[in-house]
Amino acid sequence: MEYVRLGKSGLKVSRISLGCWNFGSPNPPWGKAGKVTPEDSIQIIHAAIDMGINLIDNANRYTGGEAEEILGKAIKGKRDEVIVATKVHGEVGPGPNDKGQSRAHIMKEVENSLRRLGTDYIDLYQAHNVDWDTPLEESLRAYDDLIRQGKVRYIGCSNFPAWVLAKSLWVSDVNKLASFVSVQPNYSLTNRAVEKELQPLCVDQGIGMILYSPMGGGILSGKYEGSVPEGSRGADEPAVAEKAQRFQNGVNQLKDIAEQLDKTPAQVSLNWIINRPAVSSAIMGVSRLEQLQENVGAVDWKLSEEHMKLLSDAFPA
Ligand SMILES: NC(=O)c1ccc[n+]([C@@H]2O[C@H](COP(=O)([O-])OP(=O)(O)OC[C@H]3O[C@@H](n4cnc5c(N)ncnc54)[C@H](OP(=O)(O)O)[C@@H]3O)[C@@H](O)[C@H]2O)c1
Repeated sequence: MEYVRLGKSGLKVSRISLGCWNFGSPNPPWGKAGKVTPEDSIQIIHAAIDMGINLIDNANRYTGGEAEEILGKAIKGKRDEVIVATKVHGEVGPGPNDKGQSRAHIMKEVENSLRRLGTDYIDLYQAHNVDWDTPLEESLRAYDDLIRQGKVRYIGCSNFPAWVLAKSLWVSDVNKLASFVSVQPNYSLTNRAVEKELQPLCVDQGIGMILYSPMGGGILSGKYEGSVPEGSRGADEPAVAEKAQRFQNGVNQLKDIAEQLDKTPAQVSLNWIINRPAVSSAIMGVSRLEQLQENVGAVDWKLSEEHMKLLSDAFPA
């Protein structure tokens, strides 16, 4: 496994990381539905650690908190081998303060995440989204306090537009508060929106990008050719199946390159994305262990400049 610094921080993260969004039962009261049983999830997490993956991404609301409990069980006795990243923001209850980036919600939710994860510190605590109702200084002071208390080691954000991230860095700077070291955007060959503003900001400011949906929901595995496979995400989410059709020409180019290199389309698409500027790690969402085993084959080699360009042209920004 290859490791790089998370932005300009000293923390070394694996180029491929593991996401817990899929882990847990399908009908939680809050948060997204899961797909993988707790037993299979733990097997996948252990296999990921054995493959050298050290960064594992979670959120307080994934499968209503079950995903954090599963990760907590899986890392018992292995805590030091793992960089635990989790998030706070999304709705976790019916009350007016059961969501967002207020000091009240952050302070309450960090305790819930620590309990579910069975640990006394979170390596990377991320603001899951922008809270337009809370001043950035209030949230950043709360995060800074958590770092001083030893409950959190680094902070990051997710789904922040470039200007909000730039403002956050400025607020931290002028108030001498801890700064975000990373941002977690949606970025893949099928979604290159970050290239306009967020990515150049990250390059300039030394912010590490940790990518979600790096395979466009699975489209870049090439499995949607002609039909929607049973049990796939596209079978549950019509938008994924529709997107697969829209990107069919690009996927054909991806398959050609994969064949030339004796790699799979998934591996080639992931190699393209991890070699883009400012990218530290791409988070794998997997529904089966074999997918993870295939996807780690994206690391420890590099596409030529020519292939990088062919792919960039085949999936226009
Ligand atoms: N910050 C945020 O707002 C946010 C949002 C979304 C996700 N995330 C994080 O990012 C992680 C990954 O996101 P994502 O699940 O959308 O990523 P993705 O890589 O775009 O899609 C993953 C899906 O693609 C399919 N797949 C993966 N590898 C495959 C392979 N080798 N062959 C065939 N199919 C394959 C699987 O779906 P099927 O088998 O079901 O087809 C898998 O669940 C999440 O777990 C979560 O930690 C964060």
